Amino acid sequence: MSEQRDQFSSKIGFILAAAGSAVGIGNLVGFPVAATKNGGGAFLIIYALFVAFICVPVMLAEMGLGRRAQKSPLGSYKSLAPNNKGWHLAGLLAVITPFMIAVFYMVITVWIFGYLWHSVTGNLDMLADAEYFGQFVNDYGFVGFLIAVTIIVNVILLGGVRQGIEKAAKFLMPALFIMLILLVIFVLSLDNAVLGLEFYLVPDFSKIDGSVINGALSQAFFSLSLGMGILITYGSYFSRNDDIVTSGKLVALTDTAVAFTAGLMTLPAIFAINPNTNPNSLSDSSVSMIFSFFPQIFIALEGVVGYVGASIAATIFFLLTFIAAITSLVSILEVPTAAVIERAKISRKKALLFMGIAVTVLTLIAATSFGFVPAFTEFTFYADTPKSVFDVIYDVFYDTILPLNGLLICLFVSFHWRRKNLDSELAEGNPGYPNTLLAKYVRLSICTFIPLILAAVFINTV
Ligand code: PHE
Repeated sequence: MSEQRDQFSSKIGFILAAAGSAVGIGNLVGFPVAATKNGGGAFLIIYALFVAFICVPVMLAEMGLGRRAQKSPLGSYKSLAPNNKGWHLAGLLAVITPFMIAVFYMVITVWIFGYLWHSVTGNLDMLADAEYFGQFVNDYGFVGFLIAVTIIVNVILLGGVRQGIEKAAKFLMPALFIMLILLVIFVLSLDNAVLGLEFYLVPDFSKIDGSVINGALSQAFFSLSLGMGILITYGSYFSRNDDIVTSGKLVALTDTAVAFTAGLMTLPAIFAINPNTNPNSLSDSSVSMIFSFFPQIFIALEGVVGYVGASIAATIFFLLTFIAAITSLVSILEVPTAAVIERAKISRKKALLFMGIAVTVLTLIAATSFGFVPAFTEFTFYADTPKSVFDVIYDVFYDTILPLNGLLICLFVSFHWRRKNLDSELAEGNPGYPNTLLAKYVRLSICTFIPLILAAVFINTV
């Protein structure tokens, strides 16, 4: 007899775990800055439309697929397409993708942990030095922070679904919401904060062009953790009687609300420090915003709230970002872990040991690719400028493979597993679903324009 599959204990447990996955670095920094640079309120409207009309159907498809198959993505495609070998490859891609994204996300999480450590220990002035980040990434101290993050992630994953992932999310997500609200209130009380709100919220439709639209869709897709096998895996831990449709909508809503709220913190903070900021000069990269820009914002608060006050604000910010990152990291590592447990028929403990070693080795390679190890820094096979291992992983998997995975899910549901099966799966726990407007919309869009749009994004980036 095989052991019973571990499950989330309740709908709210699932929602918090899935929201933990979705709410990440992309929400706190990437989204607000992208919105401000790309038309403020106009970007917000486009983003919200993408979430509702493109991401939610894909999300429901992933969750429905996972719950029906009761397997990791690898096993899900296989068990729902037993005679069609081609689909196994889609399952394989849906496991390799999260593994590789986990590597670059791990690097950033380790850096965040390092910055959290230095904020707590009173070194904010050091972090705020413009040169510091460059030294920090090429320093041996990385190894110590990597060990700490590896232990935290594996302790959570070792607990399994209910005792690990769900328990952590139930504690960490409310803490994240509270810290975010505290920071928003604090930032909005600073002089000139309102200027930031203006750039963030007032729509400027003249900024909207093809690349902004493409960027908004990629951002929404990444932010909702789509195309990474995560929702297939979490769907497989969802109880038969629970309502996938309502839960999925709530996860999308929570993720979008957190991203929106983060903008009420990030932009006002930037303008409070320098009311003359030109929004177009803000960096596109979330990474450089977090590490090079935010410490300067906090140190500038010294004049207002003193060094200790500024350090406390910085600590709350890095703790918030760290929680957002760690809950995402847990979800993404669960995918290959579940696949290894399933395929190799080994215990969770052994699978985690194996995964832990593999991820740590690759993380070290990616983390030392900023000059520390010259051989890892200079890949030019697809770009004019040399790219590091870190950049290559990011470009290939984030920009290109995510929409491809989304496309494959749509095609699989539409032309192999069949939409009527998705409907009947989603109706469990929500019997009225097949007659709703949403169901009609999902049936229509999942086999027509959603795959077309995802194919266009994929081809565009390739
Ligand atoms: N949704 C996350 C974010 O916005 C992305 C992510 C999820 C990355 C899970 C890795 C793992 O940052």
